[in-house]
This record gives sequence, C-alpha cells and structure tokens, in this order.
Amino acid sequence: AIERRVNELLGRMTLEEKVGQLNLVSHGPPLRWEDISEGKAGAVLNFNSAQDVARAQALVRESRLKIPLLFGLDVLHGFRTQFPLPLGEAAAFSPRVSRLASEWAAKEASHVGVNWTFAPMADLSRDSRWGRIVEGFGEDPTLGAALTAARVEGFRKGGLAAAAKHFAGYGAPQGGRDYDTTYIPRAEMYDTYLPPFRAAVEAGTASFMAAFNALNGEPSTANPWLLTDVLRTQWGFDGFVTSDWVGIGELVNHGIAADGAEAARKAILAGVDMDMMGQLYINHLPDEVRAGRVPESVIDESVRRVLRTKFRLGLFDRPDVDSSHQDSEFPSPESRQAAREVARETFVLLQNRDDVLPIPSKVRSIAVVGPLADAPQDQMGPHAARGHKEDSVTILEGVRRRAQNAGIAVRHAPACDLFCRNTDALPAAIEAARQSDFVIAVFGEPQELSGEAASRARMDLNGKQIEVLEELAKTGKPVALVIMGGRPQVLGPVADRIPSILMAWYPGTEAGPAVADVLFGDVSPSGKLPLTWPRATGQLPLYYNRLPTGRPTLANNRFTLHYIDENVAPLYPFGWGLSYTHFAYSDARIASRQLDEGQVLEVSVTVKNAGARDGQEVVQLYTRDPVASRSRPLRELKAFEKIALKPGETKQVTLRVPVESLGFHFDDGTYLVEAGAIQVFVGGSSLADQVGEAEILKTLRIPPLERR
Ligand code: IFM
Repeated sequence: AIERRVNELLGRMTLEEKVGQLNLVSHGPPLRWEDISEGKAGAVLNFNSAQDVARAQALVRESRLKIPLLFGLDVLHGFRTQFPLPLGEAAAFSPRVSRLASEWAAKEASHVGVNWTFAPMADLSRDSRWGRIVEGFGEDPTLGAALTAARVEGFRKGGLAAAAKHFAGYGAPQGGRDYDTTYIPRAEMYDTYLPPFRAAVEAGTASFMAAFNALNGEPSTANPWLLTDVLRTQWGFDGFVTSDWVGIGELVNHGIAADGAEAARKAILAGVDMDMMGQLYINHLPDEVRAGRVPESVIDESVRRVLRTKFRLGLFDRPDVDSSHQDSEFPSPESRQAAREVARETFVLLQNRDDVLPIPSKVRSIAVVGPLADAPQDQMGPHAARGHKEDSVTILEGVRRRAQNAGIAVRHAPACDLFCRNTDALPAAIEAARQSDFVIAVFGEPQELSGEAASRARMDLNGKQIEVLEELAKTGKPVALVIMGGRPQVLGPVADRIPSILMAWYPGTEAGPAVADVLFGDVSPSGKLPLTWPRATGQLPLYYNRLPTGRPTLANNRFTLHYIDENVAPLYPFGWGLSYTHFAYSDARIASRQLDEGQVLEVSVTVKNAGARDGQEVVQLYTRDPVASRSRPLRELKAFEKIALKPGETKQVTLRVPVESLGFHFDDGTYLVEAGAIQVFVGGSSLADQVGEAEILKTLRIPPLERR
C-alpha cells in the first residue's frame, strides 16, 4: 500500500517539486520560510522548538502537495536531559542500556516535533586522536553492531527516525585528523568497518548519512561502491541517504568535480538522495535532467526513497506538533533517574590498588579537587542538543549531597583553571587535601577538546594536570582520580602515583549523583573499556583484534615487535574494567566441538561473585582461527552478556555464535568460513583465558548477494 501511495504522489509532482524533496536546509539562512510553502524543502534541520516546528508545519499545509517535512537534529545522547556520550554508554556493554538512553533522547526531542536524528554514529575507530571517537562505540565490530542496532531501536521507540552515519570509513582518518583521507582494504571494510552499518539496516534505520572522507581515493559522497553496490544491492536498503553538511559541494575540494553542477551530478548518480545544506541539488539538478546528463528516473528513485520513508514513519497521518510543548518540561524526575542509572553503568574502574575505593565508611572528611568537579557545561560533553548547564548536577554537588547524608565534611578546591594552565590555586588544594581523610580528584579533558574537529596530536592529561596530581599524591592521603573526557588520556606517571582511577567519560546531567553512587560504594562499577587505552599517543592506532606478526614480542630480543622507548602493550586492554567485588570463572564447556553448516558454537561458563558486594560482570567470548588461508586476528569478540550477581551467587552463562559468523571476507564481498580449528576464550576482558577449541567441519563460501 505504501508503494502505491508513493507512486501516486510521485506521478503528480513537477521536476522542481521532486528536487525540492531532496533538499535539506537548516533553520535560518539559506532557508526562507516561504521555501516550505513553495515545496522547495523536503527536510529541515536544527528546528528545536515546538513553536518553530508548528510554524513550518502550517506552511506545509499551504503548499500544493502538502508533503510533510522531516525535522532533523543531532540528538545523540539526550535532548534536554543529557545522558552519557555514546562512547561512555558503550562502556556499559549493554544493548538494554543503549536502548533506554536513546529512547529517552527520542522521547524528549519528539515532544517538540523533531522526528529524525542524525544518529547513531556507526563509525568504528581504532584511533582515539580522532575527536569524534566520543560519538561512537569504540573499536570493536561486534560490540558496535549490537549497540548500533540497540540505538536505532531505542530512537524509534521514542519517536525518532535514525540516520546511521557516516557511511563509511570516517573513523579511520590518517593521523587521526578529522576529515582526512582513509585507506581501508575492501575486505577489511566488510570484516570490521561495515558490520555496525549493516546492523543499522537490519534494525530498521530510516536513513544513512554519507561521510565527508575519501575512502581509498573515492570520496564517500560520490562513492557508487558504498552507496549503491553495498548499501542497496547487497544489503537491500530502501530508505534514503543524505549527504553530510555541504558534503556534495566538497567534492570540488576533493578534486573530483569542477563545479557545483558536476558535484551534484556525481553525488546523485552514486546514490546520495538528499543534499544537506549545499543547495546544489535544488540549483542544478533540474537543468542536469533537462540537459540529459541525469536521467529523470534517477531523481524519481531518490524521491521514492524519501517519500517511502515519510509514509513509513506515518508523517502523512500524524497530527502537527502541539506548539505549547516546551523542552523545559524536562529533565523530569523520571528522566533524571534514567540518566543517573545509565551513567553509573558506564564508569570504568581502571585500577584500584589497595582497594582505595569505595570510600571507606570511617572517612569523616573529603577534599574534592580539580577543575572538572564543578563543570556543569563540560559534564554534558559535546553535541548536547538542548542541554542546559543549569540542569546539571555536578560531581561536587553529588558528593556533597551524599556526604551530607553520612555526616562527612566536604572541602572543595579546583587546583587549577579548566585547562589546567594556571595553578595559582594549587596550594589551597594541597591544604584542603592535607586537612581531609580522602581526596577525590576530578581531572581530564574539557569538552572543547573532544568531538567534531577536535583531533589531538597529544593525548596527555592536558596542561599541568600531571604536576598537580603528583603534588596531591605527595600528601600521602588516599586519592581517587575521576577522569572526565571523550577519549583515553595518556596518564604518564599518574598511573603509578594515583592508586585508584575511575573513567567517567562525560556522564551528562546526573553526573554528580551517579559518580557519588559509585565512589561511595552504593553501586559497584561495571563498565568495561570499549577501546584499548594507550600508554603513549605514539602507539596509535591501537586495537586488540590485530593480526599476528611473524615476530611476536619477546623480552630481550630486539628484532621482535616492540618500541625502543615505550612498552608495546596498552596500559589497559579492550574489555577491561574492575569491580568492588571479583568474579570467579569455572566449568567452561563447549557444547558441541564439531560444527557443521548452520550450527552454533555454544559455550557455557559458570561465573561466581566471589567477593562481598553486589556487582555486575560482562562475560566476554573471543575466538581465534589459528591457521587459515589468510592471517586472522589474534582475538575477536564474538559474544558478550552483562549479568548481575549478589555476593556468593553463581550463574551459568551461555554464549552462542553461529558458525556463519566465524569467517572473513575477500575484497569482492565473498565470505569464507574455513574448515579447521577455532580457539575459544572466555573471561572478563580481552585477556580472557583460552577454554578450549572447536572444529568447523566444512568450508563455506558465501557470495555477497547471498549474505543477507
Ligand atoms: O550530523 C552532523 C554530522 O555528524 C557532522 N556535520 C553536520 C551534521 C548535521 O549537524
């Protein structure tokens, strides 16, 4: 029925009206309000109040065909109530948590009429110099696929259509420099970078956004292999693709188009259906069609995709937004509670020597030190949609509230300015530490150093943070460092000097209560690193699922894999994160060691909470194909499950991996599962122990078009 309505409407449209549907413009110039009633915009972005949305919807009703608009916005981790940034949320290792956070973001945004989000970001990245790593799920395709799907579902449930972005390879720019070029062999695209995007299709994303970067010399915005061969032909995606912001015009900068007309032509022929902010489709495509350079059937197909999406979303039948709706109806007590629950699942306890955390009950006074302890704007992180810093509960405030309940005195001293360049306030902070039983130090990366266009060549704790932390350590007081930031920070001597370190990412509106819940031990930390944490910036790109080398690292042998001036191993591995309790793994069993076509590798393991506190563990299953026709990664995460255990409680966890997921791709998209041994590892991080081996009995070769 939808296709019939699409074709009927298409049949009534002029060429100009068709091209209007492919035009996406932002609130403010170049959009003129009358463009809407004249049918010159199919979608708009950055409308974030119900009053503006309602005004635009009224203009749609004055237009000839009354085709509803898509209202797009970057709703990544909350609308008014801020949830943790996506990279932090990924550390929860929980599709349930990701769905919950996305659903809340969508509920609040759709309340004021937004119906389309430019999220989730499905870009895998192995290089945290790239600032946008904060918007994704980290370095692993299995985790990335699971969380991308969960985010698409959560957005949909809350009322937002998703746009999986940035298609593709945007997370691997050379040198970690945002917008720089990317070289990724096609086999590697299929194995590593594309699975999260494919998961977005399977989860029902409405749209895709093309990436800014060139991939292997072909800009993604005019890349027929990505946009047509893979996305449409192999995956069967029938929604629409938008460019990124003026991405079509940038084809001229990429050097593959002489002018705007050629750029528009190349983009639409490659498979970009909608032009974000370039005005190139609306200005050039009618003439390109009339001159015979672009077949009208290509325009029709793009318009069909846009209209199909609008019908599927029910936009033609939906009442207009109620213009009295306000984003200030949030945060509500419920959204705050959800934001707090999500945030405390995301904190990763990186180290905890001498069990410095949780704060012991005998502590009577605490010094809260560091510029990020009282940073209501920074704790929301980049891309905070309609987030207001006035809604934020800071870490200082959260600790104060919790300490007050327990009759604990709190002293506060920032020690330095936000970027920690000026340390005039350090003596006061040292004095506060000396007078207190315990020190909570909140340092890290101000949000300005993270996100789009925030690549870093040096990832060290910026400014004078290392000196400040060393001075705090010298007081001899127990110090717990809470790091805020959008990427791993290079810690240098701090990892040795400070016993306990908690990575809190950007926790959002409820940072304070959530951090206090964990520091005081009301909740045990349960986050795991969604990416590998380097010791030095020079180690990047760095990731756990790397290929073996002919010369594996051997101590005292110079001619093996190593650095002359740094330990080659990461500081903390992928999947790593401690708890206040500990977990004992036993009785790992592989149900069937002989795997035939269509069967499932089923591994069960018993996990016991062997400590004295409640806790959650992420049980992780990795595999390795030790002998194949091509070199295969040392380990690959294939399945995971987060479980909660009371002290002394035991659970049996069964993880399942279809045999069809144990193979690898060739450049032409053919997928090969080779007969032979598969090693199996199960545990609480990527350092998991090997628990046995299974055998694949038959080689399977699946051509790209059959891998649906
Ligand atoms: O969604 C974003 C994209 O990630 C970067 N350029 C602008 C878009 C719309 O705001």
